[in-house]
Amino acid sequence: MENNLATRCLKVDPVRPETGAILEAGRILNRGGLVAFPTETVYGLGANALDGRAVARIFEAKGRPADNPLIVHVACREEVKHLAKNIPPAAEILMDNFWPGPLTLVLPAGAAVPPETTAGLKTLAVRMPRHPVALALIGAAGVPLAAPSANLSGRPSPTTAEHVLQDLNGRIEAVLDGGPAGMGVESTVLDLTGFVPVILRPGGVTPEELRELLGEVEVEAAFGDRPRSPGMKYAHYAPKAPLLLVEGAPGAVAARLMELAREQKALGRRVGILSCSGSRDYASVGEVVLAGRRENPETVAAGLYAALRRFDELDVDLILAEGLEDSGVGLAVMNRLRKAADRRIVAGSPVSFNGKQP
Ligand code: TXA
Ligand code: MG
Repeated sequence: MENNLATRCLKVDPVRPETGAILEAGRILNRGGLVAFPTETVYGLGANALDGRAVARIFEAKGRPADNPLIVHVACREEVKHLAKNIPPAAEILMDNFWPGPLTLVLPAGAAVPPETTAGLKTLAVRMPRHPVALALIGAAGVPLAAPSANLSGRPSPTTAEHVLQDLNGRIEAVLDGGPAGMGVESTVLDLTGFVPVILRPGGVTPEELRELLGEVEVEAAFGDRPRSPGMKYAHYAPKAPLLLVEGAPGAVAARLMELAREQKALGRRVGILSCSGSRDYASVGEVVLAGRRENPETVAAGLYAALRRFDELDVDLILAEGLEDSGVGLAVMNRLRKAADRRIVAGSPVSFNGKQP
């Protein structure tokens, strides 16, 4: 892959983006170029979804496996009719309720979508983002945009333009810098092609919200043998140092984490601690990065990827991460942490840090 493009950083107002920068970015996309842009989840790397050659460049720039399909981003619902072969009633209900927003729907693909975008699948993933910059950019391009997260494949998703440049400087034509992305974790991917809707990737819209509208909704296991979402089989979201995830009740997590951190420190290792409890005891055993507050999983979602990138800068030998509850957006956060841990997951200690049973 050529690594010598002069990547332009175009500043843009996140609330009122109708500026020259958007028009310029639209022109780049129309010429088959790549533009990274903020969404209400993470930064995406956009190309014209209907131009197979432009889409192929996304795979090159990211080093993305060719069998991992992309999400097509639209600026209006009407566009879905041109992309999907048919739109089931459940999809209409979900679009009414969650679009624009962090919900991606997997539908039967129509003929207009090139195989590069769907990675040769007969299905298509589509979403309408809520971020004004994303909507303005799709409008300026006049075509739907295929956009994965704008990171090198395997790295944590970017939540700022700076993260995008860390990974893709020299590999893409431009990044629209509209400040920090919104939620910090990616959209929920929901497969509507089967009998029962299946969450292939938990994200910004929670299972609880979906069940309220649809009734039964399955959640695919984080480590299924044959994941239906091709992207979920790759060890993902990984910082450079190995990450070990400690799951369980808060006291039990803190106790086990302290024990492990002390052990590792005694072995001469530089320990990173990804915390959402803010426990002050950790500072004596490692480099602590606070990702947010356990009681408020939205804050952990917003801080998660920046925290993982921070550990790369701190050059730690390993990362011990505190788990949180699998409810609400916490499920999406735990999904990403479990992927980052790549099966290095341990339970909290049976005796909590203050000596009481958790
Ligand atoms: O929030 C988001 O969804 C962000 C922003 C930029 O919109 N995008 C994003 O894209 O996270 P990406 O490529 O990093 O993740 C897309 C996920 C992958 O796990 C991929 O395998 C899955 O969606 N996917 C795409 N098309 C699919 C399809 N036809 N069937 C099943 N899964 C699909
Ligand atoms: Mg991604």
